[in-house]
Amino acid sequence: MDTVKAVKTDTAKLTLNGQEYDLPVLVGSENEVAIDINRLRGTTGAITYDNGYGNTGSCLSSITFIDGEKGILRYRGYPIEELAGKSNFVEVCFLLIFGHLPNKKELDDFHYKLTHHSLIHEDMKKFFEGFPPSAHPMGILSSMVNSLSAFYPENGYDVDIELNIVRLLAKIKTIVAFSYKKSIGQPYIYPRNDLGYTADLLHMMYAVPSEDFKLSKVLEDALDLLLILHADHEQNCSTSTVRMAGSSTANLFASISAGIGALWGPLHGGANQAVISMLEKIKADGGDYQKYINMAKDKESGFKLMGFGHRVYKNFDPRARILKASADKVLNELGVKDPLLDIAKNLEEIALKDEFFIERKLYPNVDFYSGIIYRAMGIPTNMFTVMFALGRLPGWIAQWKEMRENPSARIYRPRQIYVGEIQRPYVSVDKR
Ligand code: CMC
Repeated sequence: MDTVKAVKTDTAKLTLNGQEYDLPVLVGSENEVAIDINRLRGTTGAITYDNGYGNTGSCLSSITFIDGEKGILRYRGYPIEELAGKSNFVEVCFLLIFGHLPNKKELDDFHYKLTHHSLIHEDMKKFFEGFPPSAHPMGILSSMVNSLSAFYPENGYDVDIELNIVRLLAKIKTIVAFSYKKSIGQPYIYPRNDLGYTADLLHMMYAVPSEDFKLSKVLEDALDLLLILHADHEQNCSTSTVRMAGSSTANLFASISAGIGALWGPLHGGANQAVISMLEKIKADGGDYQKYINMAKDKESGFKLMGFGHRVYKNFDPRARILKASADKVLNELGVKDPLLDIAKNLEEIALKDEFFIERKLYPNVDFYSGIIYRAMGIPTNMFTVMFALGRLPGWIAQWKEMRENPSARIYRPRQIYVGEIQRPYVSVDKR
């Protein structure tokens, strides 16, 4: 059913080669205005050029709303601050994927399913064994999620989809934990049905067969918050990749695996790992902040302030605000003193007073403080982006599902402006 609507209001006028065209104007439920160019090429012969899609709305969506100028983020209408303070990750997964907050029965039922599908096929363990110990866990995660399609083929969207969604959400935590155990050479720990989702993930990551596992409530709450804050972020690079792959009607696992690949890059989810490397470098360099601020301002240096700037937020990233406060609280509760937290705060203070950053509206983003919390939790740096992926999974699934259930959805297929050689005759190799 096409539940996603935008209201048609005015028309926009386009004059091209002396001819005038009327283009419909759409307005979304939060009054975002868009010029509908669906028929542009058919009627005018022209296409639009939008490097990096910064001005392009690729879909109508009712999942997440961001107002980057005001620093607003809402999932299905609920402000991120409220969800972060009152909800939990499993409930947020349900909300994003099914569109409403679950009642008690729905939540219990969903929880039960996520618990009882968390084992992975024993044959999948052989895949983990095949990776070299140096393998980046993001590569392992993407491969493992893709390989789920071999164990749970999609026999038609309507038949299996809800079950495969549950399987993916349930099994990803086992896959994440197994990737971690593989990377540190410890035995895999199987899921436990008496633990909640986040608690079980921590158990599979930190338990060892030789002693009893003691769950830390501080870690559980901190991780749950991080997962909620990462759960969706509308049409970002990895989500658009999931939609792009899924628009060909590729199966759920293949589409999500593609998104994991996109998230890995340091300009996107990989920034949380890159922030820590940067802060460590500043520390090793004697804490000379100004040197790094100057480098970030110098385009020739090739250096960027990682964890700063955002395509959409031109104001504080609301997730970064929540995480800055959480970093203080979690480190305090765990009794961890991390000099990188002080370096991050000082760097932020200096950057926010600098004309270069003010002019360009560059603020800390979600990745600026998340790595410091992961570090305090004992999670190794190369696992940070994996944790981001796990958090983002419900958003990817919700966006993929919304697209697959929209009868007007079309295959994603942008055009280009060709600037290469014009036609020329082939020259045989002896004459080149
Ligand atoms: N350090 C220094 N200068 C920057 C930075 C930065 N981190 N980010 C943007 N700028 C400058 C940029 O050089 C440009 O300057 P000018 O107008 O003089 O050419 C201006 O600010 C606008 O930036 P842009 O590159 O056009 O912005 P974008 O929307 O294409 O890129 C971004 C957004 C997030 C990729 C970029 O800000 C960046 O590379 N940040 C560092 C990496 C990072 O933290 N990524 C995580 C993003 S949030 C988590 C997620 O959702 O993935």
